[in-house]
Amino acid sequence: MRKTRLLAILGASSLLLAACGSGSGGGSDSGASDNKKPWEGDASEVAVATWWEAGSEKLGLEALTKVFEDQNPKTKFVNAAIAGGGGSQAKQKLAADLAAGSPPDTFQAHAGAELSDYIDADQIEDLTGLYDELGLKDAFPETLIDQLKVDGKLYSVPSNVHRANVVWANPKVLEEAGVDAKTPPKDIDAWIADMEKIKAAGKTPITVGMAWTQTELLETILIADLGAEEYNGLFDGKTKWDSDGVKKALEHFEKIISFTDKSLISEDWEPAMQPVVDGKAAYHVMGDWAVASFDTQKKKAGEDYVYFPVPGTDGVFDFLADSFTLPKGAKHPGGTKAWLTTISSKDGQIAFSTVKGSIPARADLTDEEKGKFSEYQQNAMESFGKDTIVSSIAHGAALPVKVSNDINDAVSKFVEGGSDLDAFQQALMKATDSVGK
Ligand code: BGC
Repeated sequence: MRKTRLLAILGASSLLLAACGSGSGGGSDSGASDNKKPWEGDASEVAVATWWEAGSEKLGLEALTKVFEDQNPKTKFVNAAIAGGGGSQAKQKLAADLAAGSPPDTFQAHAGAELSDYIDADQIEDLTGLYDELGLKDAFPETLIDQLKVDGKLYSVPSNVHRANVVWANPKVLEEAGVDAKTPPKDIDAWIADMEKIKAAGKTPITVGMAWTQTELLETILIADLGAEEYNGLFDGKTKWDSDGVKKALEHFEKIISFTDKSLISEDWEPAMQPVVDGKAAYHVMGDWAVASFDTQKKKAGEDYVYFPVPGTDGVFDFLADSFTLPKGAKHPGGTKAWLTTISSKDGQIAFSTVKGSIPARADLTDEEKGKFSEYQQNAMESFGKDTIVSSIAHGAALPVKVSNDINDAVSKFVEGGSDLDAFQQALMKATDSVGK
């Protein structure tokens, strides 16, 4: 039932189940109508739960909210954002609110396996009919629609796509250590050799922050060492977590972690990346929301920072997408419809992604519209169109929330020095025990 192997379904026909009706939706609550859609009703406001609460992420949400308010002057936007990158705090609050039957009107959720948590718990509405109403089925690429579909139905609307396997580097720190900033290392071993040089030059080779950022680093090393196909096999049981391939990646991870500044391992992604921005450290692996942080600090690509796919993952796009839902029992379903309409519109997607560092989920941008994006983002759009797509573990695309949380716990215990490599691998096996069953 879960969509955990995007690669396997690429190219597969994606005939969508025809969905019912063409209802008008929107602002009026017509009461007893039999044909009333779940997204019809009170549109006086919309409470939007995200974790875009600080820094460049907050600016992205503000840009989106501005389009929303222009498009929906009668619907009040209520910001229910909770701080904490990767949803580290927001997801807990959301789970409690959903369990207590007091959901926000819409919430941010990752496309892919993470959605199935909410679907299995019967907490979100099927939005397939809304896709028909808004004409969205052709707006998004087939690969993304496949990732969003569960049992042929669509339960959320994507606002944007991010890439997770990107290294952000400070070229001055690299050059001072005799590392060529223009030619990225070809694999993890070559990258480690560069880190040795940077350490010898007296700078921090790489930084990492709190648990989910450590998981993101680990997943990119798994992709590099296993290759896309075997990496995808981790999510349907075809690749074993106790295999030698995984062991090799864990050894690489251990080595790379030995180069990090341990004082940062409880920090959120922005403070953990800051030493790279400030020229105190060389590398940071982070999703491409990082580009927005460099931009807001007026740093120039090519001069103040460079970026490249994690060595060994060139040609692979480690995918995640933010999307929005209609929770069952939402108080303002008409407001939710208005929000979903804005975030899926070209104006909403362009306004958000140009500020947020992501790329629009829509595949129908004109060249002129693409021209509004930074060089990095135009690059990412091209990669998304041609690279092999794999799903992010740290950002809900590959595995359900409970499994990702257990992986985060195993990874952070290891990074904090609380387990050795064997115990770490066993903890990962235990965390993923339910996978593929
Ligand atoms: C979200 C991004 C966000 C990042 C850091 C990811 O899980 O998909 O939108 O920028 O976390 O908070």
